[in-house]
Amino acid sequence: MSEIRELYEANNQGHVFEFYDALTDAEKTSLEKQASAIDLDEIADLTARLIQTSDCQDSGFSEAVEPAEYIPLEKNEGGDPARWVEARAKGEAALRAGRVAAFTVAGGQGTRLGYNGPKGTFGVSPILHKSLFQLFAEKILASSKIFARPIPWFIMTSQSNHDDTITFFEKSDYFGLPSDQVNFFSQGVMPAVDEEGKILLAEKSQIALSPDGHGGSLRALVRSGATRQMEADGIDIISYFQVDNPLVRCIDPAFIGFHLEGNSELSSKTVSKAYASEKVGVFCQRGDKTLVVEYSDLPEELAEATDTNGELLYRSGSIAIHLFDRDFVHRLGSGTGESAQLPFHLAHKKVPFIDSKGKINAPEAPNAYKFEMFVFDALPFANNPIIIETAREDDFSPVKNARGIDSAQTARDDQLRQFARWAAGAGIKVETNDSGLPAAAFEISPLFGDTAERFASSWDALENKTELTEGVVLA
Ligand code: UD1
Repeated sequence: MSEIRELYEANNQGHVFEFYDALTDAEKTSLEKQASAIDLDEIADLTARLIQTSDCQDSGFSEAVEPAEYIPLEKNEGGDPARWVEARAKGEAALRAGRVAAFTVAGGQGTRLGYNGPKGTFGVSPILHKSLFQLFAEKILASSKIFARPIPWFIMTSQSNHDDTITFFEKSDYFGLPSDQVNFFSQGVMPAVDEEGKILLAEKSQIALSPDGHGGSLRALVRSGATRQMEADGIDIISYFQVDNPLVRCIDPAFIGFHLEGNSELSSKTVSKAYASEKVGVFCQRGDKTLVVEYSDLPEELAEATDTNGELLYRSGSIAIHLFDRDFVHRLGSGTGESAQLPFHLAHKKVPFIDSKGKINAPEAPNAYKFEMFVFDALPFANNPIIIETAREDDFSPVKNARGIDSAQTARDDQLRQFARWAAGAGIKVETNDSGLPAAAFEISPLFGDTAERFASSWDALENKTELTEGVVLA
């Protein structure tokens, strides 16, 4: 019996090899490879702590949690315009010195959107239906040109969408970015287990594996060699964003400036929650630690509680935009030092599996547990974390659902509103409704202008100014 099979027998997971003897040689090798990559002690520990004593799961919430402090926007109460000017200059200098890389987590399965393909390939821009990946590529290219330094872009995929993601970039010629500026790596996986912690088989030669959550990105950045490459290239700031947000400012000088000024290991952007039940995590403080309490863990009465001004008390929403210090990622991602490991969270899911008779079962109710890490759980480990406020309309409009809230339609409208604001700011007459939506849909490419200021200067320089009528694209 192979060593790995013996190890599984000894750990009460021998059923994983139940059909082994009837497999082909290639299937045997594949199953052994998958099995070897799993840390059985970790699975036993997670089963005991999270499944069998479910009250041990640390949701991040407790009585001692208070709303976290943040640096307000220059135009808002408490905002200090001079500080923002200084931060912007500092961030621009770091960009000119080539210290910044962009990083997108794109390993999610996009189940809620119901789109068949890597989520980044989903078309979102109003006229040309540019994909999320194309918009990010063009924003990164625009910043690379402005700061005269190529900004490397790291993209974390998952095993199930890795090849399709790369093919998409190859077919589109990397949207104008040099191909060696774009780096892909696949995130780690964790096995799904049943109530007793038994690892499930998806096929006779295939363990039921799923992505280890975006928190797995820290380990994956280290394991893939990305942090080492960054070190060699003089990059110490990682600009992190999720694949689902077409409005994100992939590279934001003021944010970078605040991060550097505060000597922060992990900085985050916040917007005020639009309504109490909005599905965003909330920045909180517990003693001297900053943390995000996930929306599903914030008790309803606290989500709805208001302060003396009638504003939501826990309003500081996390929009999953962060800056990581490279050494911090290395420390956490390689499990060295005091901060050994991000905690795992449980997700109770329906997972099809092979039963002991070798039959596939498609459960109608959740039958399995998946283990995921969340990247914001790194916050309590970070020295000097900084949170800055950002304008929702210029940084956040996620595409999560097929329709309704946070859908392709809302993201399209938010892009159009941004284009209309930029046009009006440059002195162009644009007819809009009360919500700021322009009567005629037009599109501004990030390469024409990726901020209000840069749009205005490109517009000024434009010789043949067209009217911004339906379908016009400024490229
Ligand atoms: C997430 C955050 C929430 C935040 C909100 C902002 C979590 C648990 N919650 O919610 O606090 O306010 O976004 O929009 O994340 N991903 C991977 N690998 C994985 C899992 C996810 O790369 O294994 C990526 C996805 O591709 C996506 C992102 O992480 O880019 C977010 O994942 P999703 O599960 O959609 O998070 P939300 O519940 O929307």
